[in-house]
Amino acid sequence: MTDQPDKDASQRAEELRQQLTEHNYQYYVLDNPAIPDAEYDRLFRELQSLEHRYPSLRTADSPTHRVGSSVETSFESVTHRIPMLSLDNAFSDDELKEFDRRVRDRLKTDDDIEYVGEPKLDGLAVSLHYENGVLTRAATRGDGYTGEDITENIRTIPSVPLKLRGDSIPALVEVRGEVYMPKAGFEELNRVLGQKGEKTFVNPRNAAAGSLRQKKPTVTARRPLEVCAYSVALEDESEMPSTHWDSLQWVKTWGFRTNPEMRLVIGVDECLEAYRSLLDKRNELAYEIDGIVFKVNSLALQQKLGFVSRAPRWAIAQKFPAQEELTVIEDVEFQVGRTGAITPVARLKPVFVGGVTVSNATLHNMDEIRRLDAHIGDTVFVRRAGDVIPQVVKVLPERRPENASVVSLPPTCPVCGSDIVQIEGEVVARCSGGLFCPAQRKEAIRHYASRKALDIEGLGDKWIDILVDRELVNTVADLYLLKKSDLTGLERMGDKSANNLINAIDQSRKPVLWKFLYALGIREVGEATAKAIASHFGTLEAISRADEESLQAVPDVGPVVAGHIRSFFDQKHNIDTLDALRKAGVQWQEEEITAGEKPLSGETWVLTGTLSTMTRDEAKACLESLGAKVAGSVSAKTSCVVAGEAAGSKLAKAEKLGVQVLDDSAFIDFLSRHDLP
Ligand code: IVH
Repeated sequence: MTDQPDKDASQRAEELRQQLTEHNYQYYVLDNPAIPDAEYDRLFRELQSLEHRYPSLRTADSPTHRVGSSVETSFESVTHRIPMLSLDNAFSDDELKEFDRRVRDRLKTDDDIEYVGEPKLDGLAVSLHYENGVLTRAATRGDGYTGEDITENIRTIPSVPLKLRGDSIPALVEVRGEVYMPKAGFEELNRVLGQKGEKTFVNPRNAAAGSLRQKKPTVTARRPLEVCAYSVALEDESEMPSTHWDSLQWVKTWGFRTNPEMRLVIGVDECLEAYRSLLDKRNELAYEIDGIVFKVNSLALQQKLGFVSRAPRWAIAQKFPAQEELTVIEDVEFQVGRTGAITPVARLKPVFVGGVTVSNATLHNMDEIRRLDAHIGDTVFVRRAGDVIPQVVKVLPERRPENASVVSLPPTCPVCGSDIVQIEGEVVARCSGGLFCPAQRKEAIRHYASRKALDIEGLGDKWIDILVDRELVNTVADLYLLKKSDLTGLERMGDKSANNLINAIDQSRKPVLWKFLYALGIREVGEATAKAIASHFGTLEAISRADEESLQAVPDVGPVVAGHIRSFFDQKHNIDTLDALRKAGVQWQEEEITAGEKPLSGETWVLTGTLSTMTRDEAKACLESLGAKVAGSVSAKTSCVVAGEAAGSKLAKAEKLGVQVLDDSAFIDFLSRHDLP
């Protein structure tokens, strides 16, 4: 027999439920955690163990439901009391204007209409029923009339209130909203699935759908889903506010997330402005949106307008350019990178996607081609989200033509003919030609001259191609031997540009050590690593003599990087190039060895958004001079995130992980308290 709970136990359980519900709301809805995760976990476990001991204490609104039950659910079908309609789309400004015209015609008015503009979240619609404030049923949209019961899975989503807050709660109410997966969570989920060799998701929407369809709520519980409310229907006698806007403000007081980008606009011109400003912001948002929904704000007018077939006459979705399209892989070519890495690139039938015409997409490596099962001739999904390079995310094997051909790694480098080798356990195949390979030579020169390395202005891809193809330049040292007369003979090189280039090359003769080291293009030696190594050893001579063990004494240099550095200096042609550079008059500046601790030594910082008083590179330099490492992405190990204006997903992630965040002014304040060199 199970124990009956005593009064203390029931009281404590109630207290814990209240505290955990409040902390959950602070964390997931307000993005503002009030207690550390560890403390939350302790309270959570205390409630779990009380409920385990006295099952009668486990209420429907208990936060312990969030972990999900491991019992398989069956997704019974449910009929929607109010059908879940869809939205008409507008694909142009003109179509939006026609919509507004129709609204005003029907309402017989020439006055500007007040609309609410809301981001159209790219996820799945969900209907949530609350009885006396407690979540009793959650359902998918299905065909609009019948959906599936997904209550157990929905309960695991932390931003869904299991119990409504406040004291103006209707007895029976249905809240509708969108379930979606933020971009950061989607990328992380795909990374983990890919690593395990499992099927990845094409986009965040698919990932959200796949996560909700899990039979085991425990699996859904581990997926980073969120819910944002966008409409409400009362099913009792309570009174609705008079506008859509106010109804959402009401829903917000019950503990729901609503979209902070929501805007009240008057007249169609303001609608079009709202469309453009949201489109500008699209890439910075932490989640994907595929348009903006305009809804007539007055509920009385909504009622007058009514519905036609399956969509309301009072709302429309103005769509953004699609981020995925279908096209055909016409060919696969192999490119050779600076370190000899061979990258397969799909040549595509040109397609307009993500706002630009795309005709190439990376296929990353042969493993990726096998995972996708991509053939030449295949019809594929191409995705271009934000400014990320276009990706082939899915192949449609059912559309494969008979003459489709398998993609295979060429045995020899397409540029220099040297063997292509793939070291066991490595995903990347490489050309073994080293600096014999013109492609690698060109890339090496390109990197050496790039802005973050020696910054040789005017030495762009076009010139590098010509100089290497004509054998005027074989190694970076040859750059310093170029004479004006070598250049003036070349097509489109006038006297003035020849002079400018020679001067620019000349000006790069005295680099600081770390920049020079970075410019050498040693594998996996980025700016931060080059800086750390330069200030640890002080001279190139010392670096070139260091064995792998002493290299690993530098913070952030592990066995792999140490191995790359050692093998660079062990190759005769590299030593020859360094000698030639010295002979040509290049003198890298030695550095002071700074072994001492700096204020931010050992810390990793992330910069995001726009700062008002400095560029991102300047901010990076400041942080590095204080000893911090500056990284590109936020993780639990990040020490601090500096969030300027319009910070997006990185800020959201930092907040979610509880990482310290400094805004623009706090950061300036912080810098002013430290001595910058
Ligand atoms: S209102 C009758 N508002 O878009 C109005 N829908 O194409 C019905 N959606 O199934 C929906 N964001 O999944 C509305 N702010 C928003 C929305 C939104 C995304 C989705 C929803 C719906 C689909 C209709």
